[in-house]
Amino acid sequence: MNNFDFHNPTRILFGKGRIDDLDGQVPADAKVLILFGGGSAERTGVLANVRKALGDREVVEFSGIEPNPRYETAIKAVDVIAENGVTFILAVGGGSVIDAAKFIAAAAKYDGDAWDIFTSFGGVIKDALPFGTVLTLPATGSEMNTGSVITHLGKAAKLPFRSPHCAPVFSILDPELTYTLPDRQIANGVADAFVHVIEQYLTYPVGAPVQDGFSETLLRTLIDLGPKALETPKDYDIRASLMWTATLALNGLISAGVPQDWASHMIGHEITAFNDTDHARTLAVVLPSLMQDQREAKREKLLQYAANVWDIREGDDDARIDAAIKATVDFFHAMGIDTKLSDYNVGADDIDTIINALTDHGMTELGEHGKITPTVARRILEAAL
Ligand code: NZQ
Ligand code: ZN
Repeated sequence: MNNFDFHNPTRILFGKGRIDDLDGQVPADAKVLILFGGGSAERTGVLANVRKALGDREVVEFSGIEPNPRYETAIKAVDVIAENGVTFILAVGGGSVIDAAKFIAAAAKYDGDAWDIFTSFGGVIKDALPFGTVLTLPATGSEMNTGSVITHLGKAAKLPFRSPHCAPVFSILDPELTYTLPDRQIANGVADAFVHVIEQYLTYPVGAPVQDGFSETLLRTLIDLGPKALETPKDYDIRASLMWTATLALNGLISAGVPQDWASHMIGHEITAFNDTDHARTLAVVLPSLMQDQREAKREKLLQYAANVWDIREGDDDARIDAAIKATVDFFHAMGIDTKLSDYNVGADDIDTIINALTDHGMTELGEHGKITPTVARRILEAAL
């Protein structure tokens, strides 16, 4: 097992009715910026409950954070913070709103050009405003991690950053808040969490049976409960397990001490920057093709994945790997997610643009061995057409 540091400071308040506990989590004298998206939080009544729970605190609201949140929008919230003396941010929504909160919290305390946050992948961040979250869409794990991904429309770039200063102080996870999700977002959440686990698991063995076993359980849970969440949308136990699985999939626990890949994500981000395809759907396109392309580098883990996640034990090594890749594709299809670039209006002529952007953003040595170069990424995309 590799050396690691593990520290996760985010308090999780999980279960029904936990918005009522906001009062004990947000400082009594805080001036709060409530940050939310395009209106779902208002429509579903979540915002009304949040406002009530904040009681007499001074509150400013900022709405309109987009899915795949835009730099151009989030930067306006930084001005609102300065104008109003905001001391605490409360993000109410999915990964996009939470990611925007992380950027806004950091930019509010940064004196230079806020774009430096992305060019340094978060390295310039030395401080951030404290923030909490009320999660309404289980998917990204952003509610319990320090990462964020923001799209700059003007630069046609979707870039990640990470900083220990950008951990939520607390996150409220009430599975009942996810009942209003459309099927498309339930499916996206399951697929995104699935690929998060894969990016931290499907590399090469380093003698880490606890991390592997944890990852395999998370994957099997998503495979079992994902389709059931679509069939029986208001089953509390299913929603609760999916919500906690998505959080555990990217809170640092399963990545501790093991190699990580993240190539599917970095290639996928460029597809979203290209034509706004949902994040999870880009992953469902890239991952199966990457598994196929990298089957030699990932051979041992692919065989372990076949056996322990899919119970594929018959046939020779190559047949079992083929079956595991097919099972992965079938799973995405069972969630109603297409797995080819052509399903998302990306053609052969567009691959140049995507690969050039990947190169421009410095994503030239991806994967657990740093061997997924732009040439390899091109091959992966061409095989996914
Ligand atoms: O904007 P509103 O009106 O709120 O509607 C949202 C949005 O349209 C809606 N929604 C959210 N909760 C709802 C709801 N609709 C009904 N009922 C509810 N309870 O769902 C739509 C999608 O929301 P969004 O926040 O964009 O989805 P998600 O949570 O999947 O976040 C995706 C973003 O997270 C980034 C992705 O790149 C993408 O930009 N990621 C962040 C990561 C991280 N911080 O660690 C890791 C991930 O790999 C990912 O890259
Ligand atoms: Zn993701």
